[in-house]
Parts: sequence; structure tokens; C-alpha cells
Amino acid sequence: MLLRVIVVSFVFLSFLNYGNAGITSTFIRSEWPSNDIPIDNKEFSIPKGHNAPQQVHITQGDYDGRAVIISWVTPDEPGSNEVKYGTAEKRYEFTAEGTVSNYTFYQYKSGFIHHCFVDGLEHDTKYYYKLGSGDSAREFWFKTPPQIGPDAPYKFGIIGDLGQTYNSLSTLKHYMQSGGQTVLFVGDLSYADRYQYNDVGLRWDSWGRFVERSTAYQPWIWSAGNHEIDYMPYMGEVTPFKNFLQRYATPHLVCKSSNPLWYAIRRASAHIIVLSSYSPFVKYTPQWEWLREELKKVNREKTPWLIVLMHVPIYNSNGAHYMEGESMRAVFESWFVEYKVDYRISNTRYNITSGDRYPVPDKSAPVYITVGDGGNQEGLADRFLDPQPDYSAFREASYGHSTLEIKNRTHAFYHWNRNDDGKKQATDAFVLRNQYWASNHRRRKLKKHYLKSVGGGAAI
Ligand SMILES: *[C@@H]1O[C@H](CO)[C@@H](O)[C@H](O)[C@H]1NC(C)=O
Ligand SMILES: *[C@@H]1O[C@H](CO)[C@@H](O)[C@H](O)[C@H]1NC(C)=O
Ligand SMILES: *[C@@H]1O[C@H](CO)[C@@H](O)[C@H](O)[C@H]1NC(C)=O
Repeated sequence: MLLRVIVVSFVFLSFLNYGNAGITSTFIRSEWPSNDIPIDNKEFSIPKGHNAPQQVHITQGDYDGRAVIISWVTPDEPGSNEVKYGTAEKRYEFTAEGTVSNYTFYQYKSGFIHHCFVDGLEHDTKYYYKLGSGDSAREFWFKTPPQIGPDAPYKFGIIGDLGQTYNSLSTLKHYMQSGGQTVLFVGDLSYADRYQYNDVGLRWDSWGRFVERSTAYQPWIWSAGNHEIDYMPYMGEVTPFKNFLQRYATPHLVCKSSNPLWYAIRRASAHIIVLSSYSPFVKYTPQWEWLREELKKVNREKTPWLIVLMHVPIYNSNGAHYMEGESMRAVFESWFVEYKVDYRISNTRYNITSGDRYPVPDKSAPVYITVGDGGNQEGLADRFLDPQPDYSAFREASYGHSTLEIKNRTHAFYHWNRNDDGKKQATDAFVLRNQYWASNHRRRKLKKHYLKSVGGGAAI
């Protein structure tokens, strides 16, 4: 609520500043600040035909990118679990059989949720696929990543805190023009938990239809945020992550994780580790045990880029989530440094007796990028700490998305793009030199710019 008040005054100030300069309506968004798009809007439209598959999304299905999990919802009856697919348009040589389930949330009854594992795919190949049958059938496509290798180029998008407002739509459209091949999603998907009773389930559905324009055509790598917890005891819903886990599958079994909320995959030249900020992670817990083993599997000769995704930032200078990452930092930071998770700061010298409490430059520490600006209903998180701490290089309270474009084993380019009143505006950029491969070479020159925005976090 406080945030919303701040946003309103911010809009007002902008109006005063720019209004006099002769720039009028283009700077005033009709639905500003962040209102959710009405549920009957065309952006959430239900596909035509009886029981037509909707909310289609794919994610990587195996460790190395030769499988996908295809998920969709049929609203009226279970229908078919089959995915027909092949490498030529409209000629589906293969069929895979998935599973179906449904659940309730308060009195809301979900549609029939299908998950289908499709494996044995060739690398670097375009596949076409078809769901449903007759007049209700729908067709999509996706491209598999190149084979795992140190110089396999790949362009990831990074999006967090998306929601389903007009700003979210702007972010999504801009991302889709970026050439990004896979989204690293850092948590907080639908913000359906801002609703109550049956509307929670309905807003999970509308979000699934909203993002389908991208999620049906390229994998989104999911990690869970606080808005996925959906702990609502007043309506009898006390199982954390119920809506999220029913709808968004992850390939946790292939990396021997006991829980879909934390897992790892390899894609092109990247080893991607997804952690759950809202599940137990202290010493001896399943997540801690799993991460210890997973880090041993990282082979920087094959996947030079080691990326860790988690929702709560470990270093943060915004009021949102401030200090929440401290407990995970205390547990995992020494591992991130040891394994050189790709300026660089660390606070591993701190312990409760030493009092060395300030983060210090550390060549083998990760670069932390915080992106939480998808455009959700909570509006701008613009309460930054003042003065800006040394560990923060660049920050802006705004909306937008990032891309991480890996060129080869030594170089990757990071870009952050602001949604500037509907226009995409390249705003922050830097070159990452790989920790492992650059370590014997000239040290990476960090442009004194790296993004410190708000909300979700990605550590690279
Ligand atoms: C699942 O759907 C079937 C068929 O409509 C229904 O009988 C059953 O109660 C549903 N289960 C849940 C958990 O909603
Ligand atoms: C605590 O930190 C200090 C300073 O870095 C170090 O000398 C000491 O060994 C640490 N204590 C433990 C128990 O690790
Ligand atoms: C890696 O990519 C960078 C940036 O495109 C380029 O300058 C460099 O020459 C490349 N290195 C190799 C070994 O190809």
C-alpha cells in the first residue's frame, strides 16, 4: 500500500516536470500506475474451439537441452494428453504422451493441466508441435539449443516480477523483440495472490494465457518468488506453492533434486542453477545437500558460464527485499566464491565474532544482477538506500527486461532495457569477462555500470 502511494506522487512529479516542457499525453500512461489488465481483455483471450488448449508453456526437460516439457490447460474436459511433433511444419512424425491433473484452490476448480515430456530431440533444430484436435487444435514451434560447448553462443532474457498489468505487457512485447532465445525467470509470475478466494485461480489462468505468446515458443526457466507461496489460511489454503507447482513443471529429477523448486540445467555454454529463497536452505537441509553436490558437477571447460538464479537478492540497496537475502548469503556465499559463479564483492570474511562486516572487492566473487521490473501491480519499488553503497554500481526504479548474450567462453554482453512509455530504451550495458577463462588473462574491465534495480535477483 505504501508503495502505491509513492508511485502516485512520483507520477505527479513527473507530470509537473515534463508537462511544462510541452510534452503532454505521451508521457502520461492511461492506466498508470500499475493496474492489472481487466480479466475480460483480449490480452487474456480464450482460444477458439471446444476445449481448446490454452496457457501453453515449455521449459527445458532434461539436463542438456535435448528435451522439453510442454504444458497446457484444457478448460472443459481432460481431452488428449498427446503432443504431436516433428521437424517440418504440419507434418508431425512423432507423438509423446503426457499426464493430466486438476486441483482446487478454495472453491476454484482448475482446468485440466497437462504436462508432456518430449525427449530425444536434436540440438539446434526447429520443432513444430500440435496440441488438441479437430477445430480446437493449436500449433506452435520452438528451437532447441546448440550442443553443450564452451563457445556455444546463446542469448538469454532475464525477467522478474512480471505480473499482468499494462507495464507487464510492454515488458513482454519488448522482450519478444530482443532476439532472446530462453527466459531466465527470477520469480513472481502472476501476482494472483493479490486477489482473494476464487479470483486467485482465475488470475493464474489469465497469466498463463497472457505469457503464452512467448512461453509456447521458447523455454522459460522458472524460479519461485514470494508471490508463488500463496499461503492463505483464511480460505483454508495452507500448502505453499500449490498453484505454481501444479502449473509450472521443472526438470528437477534429472539433476537429482528432491524438489521442483530447486534444480539445475545446462544450456549451450551455461550451467544454470535455480535456488528457492523460500524453502529451507540452511546446512543439512535437502536444498543445501543438493547444491553442494550440484556445484561439484559444474565443468567450466564445457560450460564456462555459471549462472545462479534466486528471487531474493544477496546484495541489495533497495527497500524491497532489503536484508532478506542475508541468511542465504551467510549459507551459500562462500560456495559461490569458491566455484567462481561468474567487480566483484564478497563478504565471506564476516563472521559473528570478527565484526568485519563490510563487503570487500574480491576477484573471485560473483557479479550480482538484480532485475525485478517486469511491471507488476505493486508499482515501482523506488525506495533506494541513501547513500548508494559501494557495492551498488547502477540502479534505477523502472520497468523493463534484460538480456544476457553469451558470445563465447570469454565474453558475454549484458543489456538492460527500460520500457520508456511504450518504447524500448537500451539503458544499461556492460561486458562480462568470464571468471574461469579470463582468470589467467587481463582482468575484466568493468564499466562502472551494472544494474541494481529491484525485486527478483540473478547472480552471475
Ligand atoms: C477433477 O476433475 C474431475 C472431472 O471433472 C472431477 O470429478 C474432480 O472432482 C476434479 N478433481 C479436483 C481435485 O478438482
Ligand atoms: C572469524 O573471522 C576472523 C577474521 O576474518 C577470523 O580470524 C576467525 O578465524 C573467524 N572465526 C572463525 C571461527 O572462523
Ligand atoms: C569472443 O567474443 C568477443 C566479443 O565478441 C570477441 O572480441 C573475441 O575475439 C571472441 N574470442 C574468441 C576466442 O573468439
